[in-house]
Amino acid sequence: MKKIYEGKAKILYQLEDPETILMVFTNQATALNGKRKEDIAGKAILNTQISTLIFEWLESVGIATQFIKKIDDDRQVVKRLEMIPLEVVVRNRVAGSFAKRFGLEEGGVLSKPTVEFFLKDDELDDPFVNVSQLTSLNKITEEECQTISDLALKINDKLIQLFDEAGLILVDIKFEFGKDSSGNIILGDEISPDNCRLWDKVTEEKLDKDRFRRHLGSLTDAYEEVSKRLDAVIAHQK
Ligand code: TMP
Repeated sequence: MKKIYEGKAKILYQLEDPETILMVFTNQATALNGKRKEDIAGKAILNTQISTLIFEWLESVGIATQFIKKIDDDRQVVKRLEMIPLEVVVRNRVAGSFAKRFGLEEGGVLSKPTVEFFLKDDELDDPFVNVSQLTSLNKITEEECQTISDLALKINDKLIQLFDEAGLILVDIKFEFGKDSSGNIILGDEISPDNCRLWDKVTEEKLDKDRFRRHLGSLTDAYEEVSKRLDAVIAHQK
């Protein structure tokens, strides 16, 4: 199989059908934009499980995604998309780089969710970029920015509810989007505690990658807890 992309936590291979891609999850955890790396046994399997649960659930509530099926513990078959090189972050509470940038305590609830764009470029450390810059640089049109922003907010709203039922606060989340063969912008990549912040509703314990970033204890114990809770909520909805 031809490797078409190798990221920090995933490798993509072209499948025989040109419209499909094999997404292989890896155990690698990174922080500081890849400067700190560690292999964490079990992470690939947990992220595949969690991302599969979430993407199947999103499809069931009417959100078009890249996901086709999970075919192995650490593998999914997904639709081929022309990825838009943006990290689209939606924040519901103050945390991480947002807390730092504005000198705020973590945890404050924002009066409404806010959307931020970061250019996906490791060499440049994924710089923050606004719509005016994106359109001036011809990276994307204003209309596409609006579509992405609306979609990100809509998916965030749905996920807030799903995680709430699982006893989790969705603090913030990063999405990636791409264009399918008909030119529609749809949700791609993965959704797991690697790319969102999830706090326990009662204790506010962090159950996401901040455990790795900030040396707060076992990553896989937390991811297992997230997987178990999501599984129970989704099974109950069926
Ligand atoms: P930040 O507060 O560090 O900007 O992160 C915001 C959210 O985006 C958080 O849920 C983690 C996620 N994220 C990624 O998935 N990949 C990244 O490279 C970064 C910087 C953040």
